[in-house]
Amino acid sequence: MENTTQYELRLAQRMSRLGTETAFEVLNKARALERLGRNIIHLEIGEPDFDTPPNVVEAGIDALRKGWTHYGPSAGQPELRQAIAENVSRSRGVKVTSDEVVVVPGGKPIIFFSLLALADVGDEVIYPNPGFPIYESMIDYVGAKAVPIRLREEKDFGFDVDELASLITERTRLIILNSPQNPTGGVLGKQHINDIATAIGDRNIMVLSDEIYSRLIFDGEHYSIMSVPGFQERTILLDGFSKTYAMTGWRMGYGVMRPDLATHITRLMTNSNSCTASFTQVAGIEAIRGDQSSVDHMRAEFQRRRDVFVAGLNRIKGFSCRMPKGAFYVFPNITRTGWKSKKLADALLEEAGVACLSGTAFGNFGEGYLRFSVANSLENLNRALELIDGWTKRSL
Ligand SMILES: Cc1ncc(COP(=O)(O)O)c(C=O)c1O
Repeated sequence: MENTTQYELRLAQRMSRLGTETAFEVLNKARALERLGRNIIHLEIGEPDFDTPPNVVEAGIDALRKGWTHYGPSAGQPELRQAIAENVSRSRGVKVTSDEVVVVPGGKPIIFFSLLALADVGDEVIYPNPGFPIYESMIDYVGAKAVPIRLREEKDFGFDVDELASLITERTRLIILNSPQNPTGGVLGKQHINDIATAIGDRNIMVLSDEIYSRLIFDGEHYSIMSVPGFQERTILLDGFSKTYAMTGWRMGYGVMRPDLATHITRLMTNSNSCTASFTQVAGIEAIRGDQSSVDHMRAEFQRRRDVFVAGLNRIKGFSCRMPKGAFYVFPNITRTGWKSKKLADALLEEAGVACLSGTAFGNFGEGYLRFSVANSLENLNRALELIDGWTKRSL
């Protein structure tokens, strides 16, 4: 591109440490191919293909009409914070009050704010790898040391608790957990969570427990480290509306944490966003307190698609896929294709017309895997299976 300014762009050093989410780049690449007339099946993006439930949409429209168009409190509307506190108290079996809740624009800001508030330069943060790429990006950005804990396929994408214990040092400030997990669909069961809690012991280490997919569990029950005796005050629970209520574009999530930390996270909100959109929060109250049948419907539908897609992948040469227990992703092992993940993902997009993500988009330990989102129709998922199968027969 032609340089139109004599002024060199002088970015702050820290910008070189900022990562990204490859899903958006692959989406752009897929859209460019579509503009050239190609048909692409989109299995790359991590958002429900359902619309926000109508009762929630109506509540948002009604709120706009009623004038919920002004600034609100930085930590969130009191009624929404109360609804979240009651919901989390019930679902996690703990006593949460509204002053422990901070409402933010999406789940992501809780990751960013927790790291800004807790991790100094040189502090260590343990995070799952393969995992949501924003963890590593943000840890690096704040100047902390990113310490990966490897998720292992043979452990159903849990990790080795002895390995976790060996990674904890005097400088560990934060441990990030994510269940159900992006990208593997793995779920940390109660025993696993209890073992993790035992490994942490009574150390003064905070846990950021990313439970944004907590309502999308197919087998077993969701269990949070916040429910383990002695861990509530060391847990920052991240949950939200994006995945549960198909509200990705509304931008609303929340953190639940001890009240003294909540006041600092609220200060970060005041400094960055002022508040989460007011009418959105009114819709959020309806989402939490209103009819939940859309959540059940969505979960059942994702489960049906998961079953079909995993069975289909397991019939394709070189692919082997575990049955994910939650979220809406499948994460097949592709090592027997003999191809590297990124190269295979690129070839499937360009030559088969199926957009998916390389496992390495989720960290180094994602090599050998691909991530497919099943947030697409059964018809498209079946077509994608045919296209991938056809491609492997031609190319492997
Ligand atoms: C594990 C995980 N955490 C957090 C988020 C962020 O959610 P939001 O869109 O609400 O910011 C995502 C979104 O993909 C995710 O997969």
